[in-house]
Amino acid sequence: MIQEKMLKNAMKCNYIVPAFNFANFEILRGVIDACIELKSPIILQVSESAMNYFTDNLLLGLIQGIRKIKHPISIHLDHGKTFDVVKRAIKLGFDSVMIDGSTLAYSENVKLTKKVVNYAHARGVFVEGELGVLSVADDDGLLSDKARFTDPEQAKEFVELTGVDSLAVSIGTNHGVNKYIGEPKIHYDILKKIEKMIPNVPIVLHGASLVEKKYVDIINNFGGNITNAIGNENLLKNAYKTHICKINMDTDFRLAVTASTRKFLAENPEKYNPRDYGNASISEVKECAKFRITKICHSENKVK
Ligand code: G3H
Ligand code: 13P
Ligand code: ZN
Repeated sequence: MIQEKMLKNAMKCNYIVPAFNFANFEILRGVIDACIELKSPIILQVSESAMNYFTDNLLLGLIQGIRKIKHPISIHLDHGKTFDVVKRAIKLGFDSVMIDGSTLAYSENVKLTKKVVNYAHARGVFVEGELGVLSVADDDGLLSDKARFTDPEQAKEFVELTGVDSLAVSIGTNHGVNKYIGEPKIHYDILKKIEKMIPNVPIVLHGASLVEKKYVDIINNFGGNITNAIGNENLLKNAYKTHICKINMDTDFRLAVTASTRKFLAENPEKYNPRDYGNASISEVKECAKFRITKICHSENKVK
């Protein structure tokens, strides 16, 4: 299982494997180019909505093409919520799946995760589970405070009962552009307790985008209106020293693409070929990925 090898090595050698979602072709190109150039392993993540956007047959073609690239690339289902979507991803040839039962009652999360583990392991597929609930933004872009941090003792029981290969935890990060309510904080104290309870299990951090002000400013200066964007890259700069072996980033690439496209079209009003602003996006995504690989993941030069 390629992801197992990647995460175990990251744990042993104190680095993080970048897990980048791709919402469109430009992001896919930019993150792959960055990882190849910097010799970093990469997990390419596809959410269910991204699967629907690409459609299964075209995604299958992309996966077959990705397999021809001579570089360690793991293809992963992000936030699979049902057994059916897990089966769909495995049928398409994904290397690993996430089953996200985090918003279910604990016993239901255990039941669903165990069912997925049995099915996936029988097919040589790696499984990420999630325990604890990340906050989600409401319609106004504000975080709801329904987050529930991961309970370290329950994490041990969850891993034993389900047999998951890695565990996504809730320690203060959130999805989207609005990362923190009040003072930005990631609960490394809770992470330490989790590490003690499950010392051999690679930990996954979702909601790890940095939400750099430079992208938000470009978007808003060129006609956008993104409010409540709050990130903090300093909070993640020591994450590579912990058992966090995989960090998930999606929002940052969405911001990079939107910023570069808005700027390009505003500055080049005569252009209408999508490959012109597509190329601008690929370059920006590549820079964005390189910064995260070198400053947060420290995964450069880990591919021999
Ligand atoms: O964590 C969620 C990911 O950013 C996927 O989002 O369902 O809009 O593709 P999506
Ligand atoms: P961001 O919204 O911080 O990019 O998080 C992405 C993520 O966790 C995908 O699973
Ligand atoms: Zn996530």
